[in-house]
Amino acid sequence: MLSPIQWKDGVLAVLDQTELPWHEVWLSFREWEGVAEAIRSMRVRGAPLIGIAAAYGLVLSVWHLPQDRDPEAPFRTAFAGLARTRPTAVNLFRALERMHDVFRRQRGLEGLREALLAEAERIHHEEVEACRTMGSLGADLLPSAAKVVTICNTGALATGGYGTALGVVRAAWEVGKLSLVYLLETRPRLQGARLTAWELLQEGISFRLVVDSAIGWLFATEPIDAVLVGADHIARNGDTANKIGTYTLAALAVRHRVPFYVVAPTSTIDPRLPAGSGIPIEERDESEVISPYGMRFAPEGARAWNPAFDVTPAELITAIVTERGVLWPPYGESIGGLFE
Ligand code: MRU
Repeated sequence: MLSPIQWKDGVLAVLDQTELPWHEVWLSFREWEGVAEAIRSMRVRGAPLIGIAAAYGLVLSVWHLPQDRDPEAPFRTAFAGLARTRPTAVNLFRALERMHDVFRRQRGLEGLREALLAEAERIHHEEVEACRTMGSLGADLLPSAAKVVTICNTGALATGGYGTALGVVRAAWEVGKLSLVYLLETRPRLQGARLTAWELLQEGISFRLVVDSAIGWLFATEPIDAVLVGADHIARNGDTANKIGTYTLAALAVRHRVPFYVVAPTSTIDPRLPAGSGIPIEERDESEVISPYGMRFAPEGARAWNPAFDVTPAELITAIVTERGVLWPPYGESIGGLFE
């Protein structure tokens, strides 16, 4: 199974996702600043992977310090810098908090290094395990010979291994339950066309790439059994932030009576947030819309609006698949039950 992030001897190696599918480029970091830049520029992306990378980033903030140096200031600077990278993925803040808890409990640089590394590896391992469990729970929800729709990239590249929504695709394919995946290109960064297509080709899973605006006509003309999407931030009432276009996909799925499943680990649920209106939505640079990957489509002087995520209201979501079970509406109760 592909893992886009690897720790070895004080160096963090990540697969640069802005170079895929054209080139497989691995980047190596010895300092947290490089990890923060990689997250901000989406070389490392996908909510669970952002959390994993940030955790290793905090390990790097103390790993190469001289033995007599107080780690307090470097750790705090790295914590603040990593927290500023991408605002929507709640996994980032959850991972940073877990690392901070470890930091508070430790005395002595040597012990601190080992304890932080152990926690980062635990976060990494837990995310991959969660994906495998969600994969099999989600596959159980699908009929045989299923045709499903997905958006963005929620695979091994986004999670550290296996995937959330794409983990369900993988699991369903492995047991012979899946016949076809319709894959939205996912403008403007094209995570569907570039990354998910790359992953599915490696696995030999059948798919058709569709432009984002074809989704209504796809539902109107093809039999579709389910929509499977990931999430960056789920509020206590079930409102879910995910890649821009997910809300459109949900609204049209409901219009055509297609089940709409969110697949996300509990690290993506924010039980302290009552509703989706409180989720911070990242707005990225307009150049991503005007000239994606350096190819200008709009005339000189054109302006763009570029929200990276949208919020799907809970009422459009059929169920939320987590590693701790499938949650059904009313989500206030089912999510509340998980965190009591
Ligand atoms: O902007 P990105 O590429 O980081 O957005 C990723 C998504 O929206 C995914 O659907 C989400 O993070 C879940 S990934 C398992």
